[in-house]
Amino acid sequence: MKSETEILVRPGRNIRGSVQLPGDKSISHRYAMMAGIAEGLSHLENYSTGADCASTLGCMSALGVKWERVADGSIELQGRGMSLDAPLNALDCGNSGSTMRMLSGIVAGQKFSSEMVGDDSLSRRPMERVITPLTEMGAHIESRQGKPPLRITGGNLRAIDYKMPVASAQVKSCLLFAGLFADGETRIDEPLRTRDHTEVALRAFGVHLIRKKMGGGSEIRIRGGQRLRGIEARIPGDLSSAAFFLCAAGLFPGSQLTIPHLLMNPTRARLLDVLTQMGLRIAVTQLEEVHGELVGSLQVEGATLKGTTLAGTDSAALIDEIPVLAAIAPFMEKGIEVRDAKELRVKESDRIQAVATNLRRMGAQVEEFDDGLKIPGGQSLHGAEIDSRGDHRIAMAFAVAALRAEGETLIRGAESAAISYPAFFQTLEAITER
Ligand code: S3P
Repeated sequence: MKSETEILVRPGRNIRGSVQLPGDKSISHRYAMMAGIAEGLSHLENYSTGADCASTLGCMSALGVKWERVADGSIELQGRGMSLDAPLNALDCGNSGSTMRMLSGIVAGQKFSSEMVGDDSLSRRPMERVITPLTEMGAHIESRQGKPPLRITGGNLRAIDYKMPVASAQVKSCLLFAGLFADGETRIDEPLRTRDHTEVALRAFGVHLIRKKMGGGSEIRIRGGQRLRGIEARIPGDLSSAAFFLCAAGLFPGSQLTIPHLLMNPTRARLLDVLTQMGLRIAVTQLEEVHGELVGSLQVEGATLKGTTLAGTDSAALIDEIPVLAAIAPFMEKGIEVRDAKELRVKESDRIQAVATNLRRMGAQVEEFDDGLKIPGGQSLHGAEIDSRGDHRIAMAFAVAALRAEGETLIRGAESAAISYPAFFQTLEAITER
């Protein structure tokens, strides 16, 4: 077992500085997977420094993809084309649900059997959402009652027409990948719009697909038998990591924060609208499109945040940012109510319970629902011992909340931040004025 690290966070007075974020985690996973099945070389700058994206690279190596670090933050992968090597050992996805769910779509297209395993947290997460459609496409998958490990015997996939019962970009991506290996045209109907990096990246790698908006969601069609070609790309900064610093700026009206080269994809940027509506001032400059992804630089001025209600499509769009928004809610004027976010219960931890328990430890009043939380504003919190439950976003969310608490806060399991953002605590310290 990995040893636990504790970090003490002292209250702050202001946020000031400039933060260059490591590459977006969602895009890094996808580029590494696509580069592996592409033809030719891919050069990826600013690849995510998180352990999750290292898990994806580890799995790609085990599948015969050669890659190397060519400079600080840059990797080069030699694509194998659509046919990968049978791994000698189980594919270790670590803590990464994205790795297991998305890569299962590629593995299901291979003519061999392989096993995908994860850590304790990942081994508790639901996988039937990919098992059901992949089985329908012709893969044979054994699991522990819908949970990892997964034993996948692939090959000879057939296209399906699939209406997704859960709004999940990971499931959609898994099926788009599997669709590349299937005979015929795969059609995916997503009832709620989820992040579209796979669709955008597939096009950048030379794949043709058709996307149509349908109600609040979309329909995507992809033909099997297409080939990918390698790309050269600089991965934009991770918006879900930036969320912690944006929320920290929202704790102090005098804050001034600059974030260059940040991902601004509309399916991810809802946080910026919500924070702006609550009073944070965000100016976006140098907006450009890189391989279909919108990128920009942010100038942020702090505020006292008003508070809001998040439900329906907003909860789905902000699923990774809700923990930090909820953790700072007591310091808002009116607080936050979150509904329709039941999915939070099956993330790296039960994030609804983790947020409620830790906020209460800091003295906050919190109401917990099956699908969300209600946290009144105008509360004062005191420092406490926080149990991150080995969940990176919980550890980081409470380090931010601790900046406005009275007294010191001890974050237990702080090492988990490395899952998405190893330099998080140093960076937070560097921009916090005391
Ligand atoms: C992700 C999609 C989301 C998100 C996760 C990353 C992705 O999960 O919570 O952190 O990269 O596609 P779901 O697909 O379960 O919505």
